[in-house]
Amino acid sequence: MKIFSFLIFFLISFCKFSFADEQQIISMGDIEFGEYLGAECAACHHQAGISKGIPAINGMDAEVFVALMLAYRSKEMENPVMQMIAGRLDDEQIGSLALYFSKLDPPK
Ligand code: HEC
Repeated sequence: MKIFSFLIFFLISFCKFSFADEQQIISMGDIEFGEYLGAECAACHHQAGISKGIPAINGMDAEVFVALMLAYRSKEMENPVMQMIAGRLDDEQIGSLALYFSKLDPPK
């Protein structure tokens, strides 16, 4: 029983801290800077939802957004277009984009 509660404790702490880097990056963000940077993204990512295989990013959870951008930047995620785009962005820019896109209405 003791081991079981230890496991629960571990799981809860893990969930809480697993997004620590993401939260720090989001806290560096500025929503107006994100709006400015985000104009470029709208060329491919459309408000209406998935289009030509490109997923919508409006209304995406900010932590998930940052985690995805970091994964493209570190080339853990394969898409060459997004690797190039994320490769040009620093943490502050990614945090700003995360704030901006997470505040938009998700596609219906
Ligand atoms: C030239 C077209 C293009 C542009 C410009 C572009 N993207 Fe993407 N993006 C894509 C494609 C294609 C995918 C899907 C890649 C995949 O399947 O891994 C994607 C995926 C993503 C994802 C993951 C979405 C998900 O649900 O998995 C995020 C987040 C994202 N882009 C953010 C951005 C941001 C922020 C910008 C602007 C700085 C941007 N993109 C600009 C084409 C583009």
